[in-house]
Amino acid sequence: EAIEKAGYDHFMLKEIFEQPKSIGDCLRGRLNAKEGHLHLGGINDYVNKISNADRILIVACGTSWHAGLVAEYIFEEYCRIPVEVEYASEFRYRNPIVGEKDVVIAISQSGETADTLAAIELAKSKGATILGVCNVVGASIPRTSHAGSYTHAGPEIGVASTKAFTAQISVLTMMALMLAHKKGSLTESEYRKLLVELEAVPDKVAKCLDLNAQIEIISEKFKDAANFLYLGRGYNFPVALEGALKLKEISYIHAEGYPAAEMKHGPIALIDENMPVVFIATKDSSYEKIVSNIQEVKARKGKVIAIVTEGDTDIAGMADYTVEVPAAHESLMPLISVIPLQLLSYHIAVMRGCNVDQPRNLAKSVTVE
Ligand code: G6P
Repeated sequence: EAIEKAGYDHFMLKEIFEQPKSIGDCLRGRLNAKEGHLHLGGINDYVNKISNADRILIVACGTSWHAGLVAEYIFEEYCRIPVEVEYASEFRYRNPIVGEKDVVIAISQSGETADTLAAIELAKSKGATILGVCNVVGASIPRTSHAGSYTHAGPEIGVASTKAFTAQISVLTMMALMLAHKKGSLTESEYRKLLVELEAVPDKVAKCLDLNAQIEIISEKFKDAANFLYLGRGYNFPVALEGALKLKEISYIHAEGYPAAEMKHGPIALIDENMPVVFIATKDSSYEKIVSNIQEVKARKGKVIAIVTEGDTDIAGMADYTVEVPAAHESLMPLISVIPLQLLSYHIAVMRGCNVDQPRNLAKSVTVE
């Protein structure tokens, strides 16, 4: 086991640090920005069908559901196809309206999650086209799907998903770009720019890993907190959910993720000097709005940890701690902004003496209801 951890204390840390490579592996052979080439062989025969779909339904559980939420924003923006993201466990039991013109994307690291598998079997029986986005080759979900793409992140051992999440988003981004190109819903120059940006992601993720020592220092300050709030808007809203999930899974600190604008409808009542609030506040189209949300938290003496774009001095002047990440197209930001949150949860859990790779009550793959 020590050899498999390759010198890291835990599989989770190893897997966090593998992400420049795992995202690179996911893109390799599929994307070549210089040549304007993007191709996912696994969905090739379905590209026409998907680009004519009435809507795309995404079904998943846990972290994979968060990747689905990111994909909702991306597909709607790039492809102008309506997307609904469903918890597989809810979808399967509520007599959903699904038809032959629907495309269902099932996202699953293991490819064995019972609820997700049952959801796609139900959608299939109603005539929908099923695409699987899975990590484990040959698992039940890819076998049950009509087509799909593997994430090629390599084996993920830590129960808390990290590299599978970023690989899922990478594949879903490529799918959306492939469809958008087919549909013409992005201009050629927008499309080419996004290919270049996507290809640059592994190097930017590598830069985020250089933040490890800084995040360890921040973790020390907050390791005894009883609660955490994570806030983001737009593309960074699902990242807030994922950051909160990572923390609760492995450190057992109660954490909630919220769209930052919803704070005023509830969570703001919780804010005092004992409440750490993690803002994912990178420079994007909702930047000004999130800055005012940070001010609202500071006015109530909350402790702010802000994930910001490199060189952002405005937020640095307001927040208690800022963590700077490289800039990217806003639709690709989740791949970058999630890295410091993975590291934050990891260090806090280690400092609290928790079993990071095998947290209590959780399983890597949930094959029962
Ligand atoms: C379990 C795991 C999570 C995972 C979820 C969905 O809860 O602990 O890390 O996100 O199942 O699993 P899947 O294999 O379908 O992605």
